[in-house]
This record gives sequence, structure tokens and C-alpha cells, in this order.
Amino acid sequence: MPKIRVALIGVGNCASSFIQGIQYYSSASKPEDNLGLRNPTLAGLLPKDIEVVAAFDVDARKVGLDLAEAIFAKPNNAPKVCDVPKLSVKVAKGPLLDGVGESTKALVEVSAEADANVAQILISAHAEIVINLLPSGASNATRFYAMQAIAAGCAFINATPNFVASEPSIAAQFEDAELPLVGDDLVDQIGSTALHKTLLKLLSESGVHINETYQLDVGGGTESVDTMDRTRDTKRIIKTQSVASALPYETQVVAGSTDYVDFLQNKRDSYFWISGTYFCNTPLKIDLKFQTTDAPNAGSVLFDVVRAVKVALTKKQGGALEAVCAYGFKRPPKMLPLEVAEAEFKKFVA
Ligand SMILES: NC(=O)c1ccc[n+]([C@@H]2O[C@H](COP(=O)([O-])OP(=O)(O)OC[C@H]3O[C@@H](n4cnc5c(N)ncnc54)[C@H](O)[C@@H]3O)[C@@H](O)[C@H]2O)c1
Repeated sequence: MPKIRVALIGVGNCASSFIQGIQYYSSASKPEDNLGLRNPTLAGLLPKDIEVVAAFDVDARKVGLDLAEAIFAKPNNAPKVCDVPKLSVKVAKGPLLDGVGESTKALVEVSAEADANVAQILISAHAEIVINLLPSGASNATRFYAMQAIAAGCAFINATPNFVASEPSIAAQFEDAELPLVGDDLVDQIGSTALHKTLLKLLSESGVHINETYQLDVGGGTESVDTMDRTRDTKRIIKTQSVASALPYETQVVAGSTDYVDFLQNKRDSYFWISGTYFCNTPLKIDLKFQTTDAPNAGSVLFDVVRAVKVALTKKQGGALEAVCAYGFKRPPKMLPLEVAEAEFKKFVA
């Protein structure tokens, strides 16, 4: 199969880890070189088969730079794990729309350059998949780029929590255009929501009755500032519904993002509380802290989703891809239990 030609919307922390990851795994020759990947090979495709051919941002410190330099520009703070050679892809200035919120104005320096013609650049670069990595509050910009993807004949991956794949009117447009669409809100490789759901499932299958549980987290990337400002409520709904779906009965569940702590840099601290009862009404409590780094946590799932979307393009399958959405996203059009989603995804790419 030819290389997978992707375009990135937003050259922030996730984009940085994604591009570093392609470089990091590109020289893998033996199994141990692939440590950290959930699926080193998927549908016969390797991470090094992914080629970034276009990128858009609005920050003056990134626009006009080669992508290999832009990923390390401020305010990005994803860890640097390897050097990335020049990629010969210049970051183009995308239309700002609602890309910068009130509280991120202080962090993003908006470029004065004229807006590029997004669809035209996608076509000239022969991009086939657009990955939306905009800030979570950029709902108008997300829709704009989704429409540009259709105009350029590209599939669309929505990593943000904005409703795109789960919005039937947008999914219908991708179906009409015979272009694959997946989203919304990428799951982490080892995220707090998956960990929480797995713990609840284990407990409830063992006969524990959960009376109350919460999962609250604090992070230090620019995205955490935007979440506090614009998407805290949406994220709370998405995460709470997802966690609650792990239990076969209703109980008190709260899951959401609670604060921005700048010195955490790109790290995220998640706190879990679970209270329940087991044999003869005996109480059980779990009080847990889990620390991860945000951007690398998106890399492996993005690699899987990109390769699955390439399979859909090859099969000429348009519209929201239910199995891929349920595997790789917190708010898919149709939520499936984790193990069912995994099995459906494997079936899809087989
Ligand atoms: N593990 C994870 O990090 C993870 C998991 C799930 C979902 N997500 C989602 O992925 C998205 C990206 O996260 P991030 O940490 O990389 O965010 P980030 O804030 O580091 O990056 C966003 C980038 O978009 C750019 N931008 C803003 N407006 C723009 C516009 N109109 N056009 C082009 N570029 C624009 C910003 O300048 C910035 O470079 C978020 O929506 C987040 O919720 C991330």
C-alpha cells in the first residue's frame, strides 16, 4: 500500500508527539523497538507509513516554519523524545475563527499573515486524511476544517470533543461524499476514563455494588487552559456518560477535568474515588492517583485510527465508521463496551 498522506490541523502538543512518534518508530526493526505501541502493524501498515504532507496553525511562532521546527515552538510543552529531520512541510496559516479563547489569548500569539486557502493546500499536497487537533473549544473552526476536508476529498479524524462524527447532519455529508469520518474526542492509550471503566467493571463483575465514584483531573498544557475556559461542561458530560456506561445499573458518577496547574507542564494528574459495598454490606473504598503525560498518550491511538481510516479509504467506505469511532473515541456515534469495541475494530481492519 502507498504511504498514508495526512494533514494536521493545529500544530500543538498532540501534533508534536505524533510527529516525533513517527520518527521514533521509523527505525524499528525488531519487536522490542516497537515497545509502547498497541499495534506495531495494523492492516499491514507501520507507523512509518504515515507521512504528514500539510499542516495548519495560527501561532506566529509556528506559521511559516518547517513542521519539524514548529512542533518544538512555544507554547508547546510536550516532551522531546527525538530529533526530527526537516520535513519540507511549511506550516500554513489557517483561519483563526474561534481557535483561541479568552483565556488562551495570553498564550497564543496570533500570526498577522493572510489566511491560506485550506482546501487548495490539501489538494496540492495530495492529502487523503485530515486530523483535527484544534483546541477543544474551537467548535466553529472544527466544522470549518471538516467542510474543507470534504471540499478537498479527504477523510476526517476529529480528536477534539466537538460533535462531528456524532452529529448526524455532518456524518451524512461525509457519507454523501463517500469519505470516512471518525470521532469524537480521542481516547488516550492509557487514559483515566479507560482505567476508571476497567476498575468499575472488575468490581461490579465481582459482585461489588458501587455507591459513588468520581474521577477528577488537573493538567498543565495549553489545552487544559482551554478546557477550563470553554469545554469543561462538555468534557464532564462526555466522560461521565462514558464512565457510567461501564456499570449495568445507575449510580452516582462524576468524571471531568477540574483545573489547570501550569507547573505540571504537559503532565496530567488524575484522582479516582470509588466507594461500594460487597459481601454482607461490607464497605470498600479506593482512593487512587494516576499520573501521565498528555500528548504521548494520544500517539498510539492516533496511529491505529489513521491506519483504520486508510483501510476505509481503500474500501471506499464513507460516513461515520462506527467500529473505529467506538474503539478510538470517548464520544462515538454508538458507544460499545471496551472489549466489544476492540473486537469490532479488529474485525474492521482485518
Ligand atoms: N492525550 C491528549 O492529548 C488528547 C486526548 C484526547 C483528545 N485530545 C484533543 O486533541 C486536541 C489537541 O490537543 P493539544 O494538547 O495538542 O492542544 P494544543 O493547545 O497544544 O494545540 C492546539 C493547536 O491548535 C492551534 N490553533 C488554534 N486555532 C487554530 C485554527 N483556527 N487553525 C489552526 N490551528 C489553530 C494552536 O495554535 C495550537 O498550536 C484537543 O482538542 C484535545 O482535547 C487530546
